[in-house]
Amino acid sequence: MSDFRPSLAYLFINSMEEIKQLIGKELHDFEGKFAEAVKSHVPLLDRIMHYIVKRKGKQIRPMFVLLSARLFAESINENTYRAAALVELLHTATLVHDDVVDDSLERRGFFSINALWKNKIAVLVGDYLLSKGLLLSVTNKEFRSLEILSQAVKEMSEGELLQIEKTRKLDIKEDIYFEIIRRKTASLLASACAAGAWSTTADDHTTEQMRLFGEKVGVAFQIKDDLFDYGTANIGKPTGIDIREKKMTLPLIYTLQHASPEKRRKIINIVKNHNKDKERVNEVIAMVNESGGIEYTREKMFQYRDEALAILHTFPDNDIRKGLESLVRFTTDRKF
Ligand code: IPE
Ligand code: IPE
Ligand code: MG
Ligand code: MG
Repeated sequence: MSDFRPSLAYLFINSMEEIKQLIGKELHDFEGKFAEAVKSHVPLLDRIMHYIVKRKGKQIRPMFVLLSARLFAESINENTYRAAALVELLHTATLVHDDVVDDSLERRGFFSINALWKNKIAVLVGDYLLSKGLLLSVTNKEFRSLEILSQAVKEMSEGELLQIEKTRKLDIKEDIYFEIIRRKTASLLASACAAGAWSTTADDHTTEQMRLFGEKVGVAFQIKDDLFDYGTANIGKPTGIDIREKKMTLPLIYTLQHASPEKRRKIINIVKNHNKDKERVNEVIAMVNESGGIEYTREKMFQYRDEALAILHTFPDNDIRKGLESLVRFTTDRKF
């Protein structure tokens, strides 16, 4: 399997250099705390945890926690760090489980946990990560962050289950699509921003505004992810697998809504009965590309990005706010 990182480093550089100037030291400290939090004395778990720590992702959720905290204070505190670690622990747990659910063998440019250790172990590893997150908060009696994040854990499970329910019936409409991605993805980004803001303000109104901001970013983030699946770029995980899993995302929903009855029947037939047939799946992907479904989806994504920025702009302008704005733009402009 090829390493996708070096060739994709470019886009990351501009926004990420800016972020690193702002919170580089904090991010570095966060990484140490994250590695510490997942340690285990069980040899197999310890080996898997090493693998997970080494193959880290973009870490955009901890970045949102740290920046959301710094937006309201000169410096962050231990509570902020633990919120960032908790968010990344929960995110990692859901990715490990999600790859089992989606039967996906590649993650972050390498093999997924289920590809290397099989489903049984992957399910238990996900639970382990979740429990480590819970312990981190409970041990430090940080019940407010735990409450904020538990809401996200609940919604993520609901979102993934709602998605499975819809893949069985293939009757998904745009409003349900947004409901699914709000729950399965946006809820965690919302909680990340809320927990960060809470850690330095302890103010309900500010926390709620930041939660809403994170939710808009999260919806845009998942739309971008769904667009990747219709492309061919090397993003460190498989593309073209949403249809294989009968996942109907916005590009396809739009296409179906604007197709002739005959075309619609053809697409539904492929998604339902020939979804493992690469050639026929590629036919659907081509139809989506011709229908304007990609452009429409991009427009929706930018709409959410702009709604997020409008909320952000209600806060005083400073370097941290600019950093958050770059991170939002990275969400929609990223190459992986
Ligand atoms: C992937 O999230 C899961 C989705 C919600 C689409 P990321 O793209 O943030 O994953 P990593 O952590 O950078 O690998
Ligand atoms: C997001 O959906 C999964 C989670 C919220 C855990 P996807 O299934 O599209 O995410 P990827 O593409 O596998 O990262
Ligand atoms: Mg998946
Ligand atoms: Mg995806």
